This record gives sequence, structure tokens and C-alpha cells, in this order.
Amino acid sequence: MDKFVVEGGARLEGRVSVGGSKNAALPIMVASMLSDGQSTLRNVPALKDIKTLSKLMEILGSQITYSDGVMTLTTPEFKDFEAPYDLVKTMRASVYVLGPLLARHKKAKVSLPGGCAWGPRPIDLHLKGFEALGAQVTLDAGYILAEADQLVGTDIHLDLPSVGATGNLMMAATGAKGTTRILNAAQEPEMPALADYLISMGASIEGGGTSEIVIEGGKPLHGAEHRVIPDRIEAGTFLVGAAMTQGDVTVTGCDPDHLRATIAKLQAVGAQVDVGEDWVRVRSTSKPKGLRLTTEYYPGFPTDLQAQFMAMATVSEGVSVITEEIYRDRFSHVPELNRLGADIKLTENIAVVEGQPHLSAAHVMATDLRASAALILAGLVAKGETHISRVYHIDRGYERIEKKIAELGGVVRREDEPLVT
Ligand code: UD1
Repeated sequence: MDKFVVEGGARLEGRVSVGGSKNAALPIMVASMLSDGQSTLRNVPALKDIKTLSKLMEILGSQITYSDGVMTLTTPEFKDFEAPYDLVKTMRASVYVLGPLLARHKKAKVSLPGGCAWGPRPIDLHLKGFEALGAQVTLDAGYILAEADQLVGTDIHLDLPSVGATGNLMMAATGAKGTTRILNAAQEPEMPALADYLISMGASIEGGGTSEIVIEGGKPLHGAEHRVIPDRIEAGTFLVGAAMTQGDVTVTGCDPDHLRATIAKLQAVGAQVDVGEDWVRVRSTSKPKGLRLTTEYYPGFPTDLQAQFMAMATVSEGVSVITEEIYRDRFSHVPELNRLGADIKLTENIAVVEGQPHLSAAHVMATDLRASAALILAGLVAKGETHISRVYHIDRGYERIEKKIAELGGVVRREDEPLVT
């Protein structure tokens, strides 16, 4: 198993480009299964989650090639309709296959994803939505079985603007008879990206990126070409790294419009932020100030950057208060940051962080994808060498992160960590 060794004391400086968005690529790959034609996706990041989903789709009948960010996908017919536990447990986004399987194959069986390192993550809104579209949904031995001879369009009001439910139902609705309106839909940039791809496949969709998406189902769909949008979370991770190391980093190939809440928080802590058409530069010459931050649905501050901003707060001037409203248990990084000398007190979903002059290196454990990124950032401002175990989490969502940080002057080494038995 790999670990990272992070040398503290670097000031991140220079230019770094971001890759395609994992969370945009995953549903779009799955959506290609709605037609039997070939789709070509560009700017697909080389990540473990992408490989996991490819594997699952190949089991279901897709033929996939991938080279240098370009992926071709064809699903002439379905060979199977079951997403097995072994794959779903490593990646929750596997539940996205429910939508296209139901729409085109009329039947889907997907293992329940269960909880994860940061609490229960239900999919009840996906299932209620499928039922509203006329599917019979049953649960058996840890599997969801959904069936429908013909989905029928209807109004679906989501109790919460869930990204996964919005994407899944949008895909299913392209195969439904008549009109579906998804109300209180998620507005995260990955959703209008999915709508754009579906439209280029021949679907009729209006309102992607708003809270009301209208899908006219039943249009014949074909393969399409699509470029995956830049990863706003990867971009935000490097930008916060610049602010907390008092550095000067220009993130290129990003969409600044998707980073508005992040940029506002970086300005609030005193960093200078310049924005171009597809780049953002963050400069700082003094310690960041403490901040108040609450995670929210888009366009609010993203939960996927909460851990990285908390890493910054550990070395900020004064006290920060960070409230997690999307996943109220998403704090597995807190004990690890405290091992590095941070002073974080957690009460329910509110973390109070007393900024320290510096952190001190230690052995810590990556517990999930974004927590791992937070630990790398913390390691960069800790005195000494921080050892981070279980970095397989980070390989799920960040491409070559150690190389990109090295390009900015930070030292992160990947080393083999023998298993102790
Ligand atoms: C997606 C992202 C993830 C991000 C999250 C929130 C992908 C692959 N993952 O996850 O990185 O952290 O959005 O921006 O894109 N909920 C329910 N019932 C449901 C579905 C969701 O109660 O059926 C709740 C969740 O518990 C959570 C909130 O809704 O509190 C948002 O979850 P959701 O937007 O669905 O997240 P994901 O799509 O799983």
C-alpha cells in the first residue's frame, strides 16, 4: 500500500493545470449507456473511480477504450443488469447505473451502497423518483431491484437538491413517455454538464443548472462527443494551498464561474485573488485570517472543500467556525489534523478551530478522498515530515497530486508502505 511523505515548510508557487471533473465524468460515462451508439469523451481524468466505473460498465455490456484523457464508450446491448456489492461498496457513484438501465433495459439490480467513512448516505430520493416514474422498486438481500415496462413522465419534487438523485432521474426521464419535471433539482455544475451531454445525444431537456429541469422523454438517442468540465474541487484545493502557504499559485484550465463561493472565502481570509477567463491566481503574503464557513448546496460553499479549508484554518490568525450542513458527519479529518497539533473542537456539525502558529509533523491516516487532500495541505505547513497512510483514497479523485504539488515547489513523495500483519 502506498503512503505519502510530505515535507513541511514549502511555499507553493507557480502554475498548475486542473484535470477534468470526476463528478461530472462519472454520470456522463453512465449516460452513454442510454444509446447503442458510440460516444467520445475528452478531458476524462485518469482516476481510480473512473476505472472502477469502466469495470462496472463493462460487466453490464459496454465497450470502453481510454487513452490520454480520451474515452470512447459503446453499449450495443446489455449483457447484465446487476451492479455487484464489491464494486458499489468502493464507489457510491455506481448507483448512477440505475437510471440508464431502467430507461433502456427496463430492469436494474444494484447493491445498496450503505454508509461510508462519514455517515449514512441514503439514496431514498433516487428510489422515490423512480417509483414516481412508474418503476417497481423492491429491496432484497442488500440489493435494489427496479423494474418498469415503460417509465412515464411526471412531476418529481426532491425533498433535497441531491446531485445523485437529480442526475439519475434526469437520465431515467429521457426514456420515459411524456414530460418529467424535476423540481428542487441540484444546480451543481456537474448537472448542467450532464444535461448538455444528454441534449447532444438527442434528448430534449430544459433548465439544466436551474432548480427546475424539464425532460421530454422518448426521443431517440445516439452517441455524442463531449468535453468534461474542469474539476472545481481540484482547483479549489490548489488555491487554498496557495493561501495557507502564503504562496502565489495560478490554477489554469479551470472555470472561475464554478469557484465563486471558494474565491469569496479566499478573499475573506485576506488572499489576493485575480481571475481570468479560465484561470484563477491566489497570492498571499501574510497568514490567512480566521473564517466562518458553512457548506451549502451549489452555488454555496461545497462540502468537498470543507476539509481543505479546515486545514487552512488550523494555521490561521484567530478562531474559525466551520459548519457542515450537507454531510453532518463529515469530520473524519478532525482527529488526524489534531494529531498534527491542530486545535479543533467538534460539537455536532460545528468545528471551532483555534489557529496555531504552526503544525508539527506526525504519522496520520487518510480516511476519505477530500480528508486526504486536507492532510497533504496540513503536511505542507507542518514542521518536519508528515507520513500519510492509505493514500489510495486520494488516487480515487486527484490525478498525480504529488507531481502537481512538486511543480509548485512542494515536496510530497509516494513511498511503498509494507503491510504490518
Ligand atoms: C455528490 C458528489 C460528492 C459531493 C456531494 C454533495 C459525485 C459522484 N459525488 O454526491 O462528491 O460531496 O454530491 O455535493 O458527484 N440525500 C438523501 N437522500 C438521497 C440522496 C441524498 O437524503 O437519496 C442527502 C445526502 O445524505 C446529503 C445530501 O442529500 O445530505 C446531498 O447528497 P447528494 O447531493 O445526493 O450527494 P451525492 O450525489 O451522493
